[in-house]
Amino acid sequence: MTKAWLRGLGIALMAGSVIAHAGPREERTKLVDYFARKFPDLRHADHVYGALAFDPDARDQYDAIMEYPPFTAELEKAKLLFETPFRNGKTYADCLPNGGRMIAGNYPLFDEARGRVVTFEDLINQCRADNGEEPYAYDDPGTMGLVTAHARSLSDGMKVDVKVESPAALRAFEAGKREFYQRMGQLNFSCASCHVAAAGNRLRSEVLSTATGQAVHWPVFRGGDQPMTLQMRYTDCYRYMRHVSDRPGSERLNNLEYFHTYLSNGLEMKASVFRK
Ligand code: HEC
Repeated sequence: MTKAWLRGLGIALMAGSVIAHAGPREERTKLVDYFARKFPDLRHADHVYGALAFDPDARDQYDAIMEYPPFTAELEKAKLLFETPFRNGKTYADCLPNGGRMIAGNYPLFDEARGRVVTFEDLINQCRADNGEEPYAYDDPGTMGLVTAHARSLSDGMKVDVKVESPAALRAFEAGKREFYQRMGQLNFSCASCHVAAAGNRLRSEVLSTATGQAVHWPVFRGGDQPMTLQMRYTDCYRYMRHVSDRPGSERLNNLEYFHTYLSNGLEMKASVFRK
C-alpha cells in the first residue's frame, strides 16, 4: 500500500520535472491539449479567429467584413509602398528571401551569427538598411504597419513554422516564455492569466482569445483604421496590465514574440484581417 503510494508520488514528481524542463514542442502541445480539453467544441484550426472563435455571430460579421474590407484603400497604399523602388532602383522583392513569398511563417527566427531573435519587421528594416534607406520605427502604423500589411500577405496560407534549434535559441525562447508567464504591473496579471487561464471568458465587453493562434494574422486593421502590428498589440495588453512595456523592436518584445509565435506553429497565416 505504502509502496504503491510512493510509486504513485514518484511518477507524479517525474511528471512534474518533465513539465518543468519541457522543451518548446512540449510547451506548445501542453497548451494545445489544455485548450482542447477546456473547449471540446472548438477546432484547433479555429484558434486563428481569436475571440471570434467563441462567438458565431461575431464570426459571421467578421466574414462579411472580410469580403469587402473597409480598409481596402489602406491595403492598396500598402502594396504601393511595398512595390515602390528604393532610391537605388531595387525593391523589397529583390532583397527578401524568395522574393518575399511564403517566408513570414519562418519568423521570428533565431539568427545564430547575430546571437539574437530576428522578426519579420527586422527583416524589412534590414532590407532598407542594405539598400541605403532609413529604418522604419517599429511602432509606426503608416510605414512599418503598412509595408508589413502587404509583405506578410504574400505568405497567406503558409503555416507558421518557427524553429528553436540551438542552445542560444532556446535561451531566447525561455526568456520569451518567462515574459509570457511572469505576473507584472499594478494588477499582477501575466499574459497567461488572460490568454490561457481566462481564455474564453469575458473581460468587460470582450471575449479573451486563446494564446495559440494569436500570431497568424498581423497586422490587423481595427475599424478601417491604420494597421497595428503584433508588437503594437503587445504594448496595448501591457497597458491593460498597468505595466510600462519596452518599445516594439526591443529584445524583450522580440523574445516574447519568438515564444508566442511558436505557440501558433502549424496554423495557417492570413495577414491584414479585421479586429474590433
Ligand atoms: C487583463 C487581460 C489581458 C492581459 C493580461 C493580456 N491581454 Fe492580450 N488581450 C486582452 C484583450 C481584452 C484582448 C482583445 C480580445 C482578444 O482578442 O483576446 C487581447 C488581445 C490580444 C491579442 C490579439 C488577439 C487577436 O486575435 O487579434 C494578442 C496577440 C494578445 N492579446 C497578446 C497578449 C500578450 C502577449 C500579453 C502579455 C504581454 C497579453 N496579451 C496580456 C486582454 C489581456
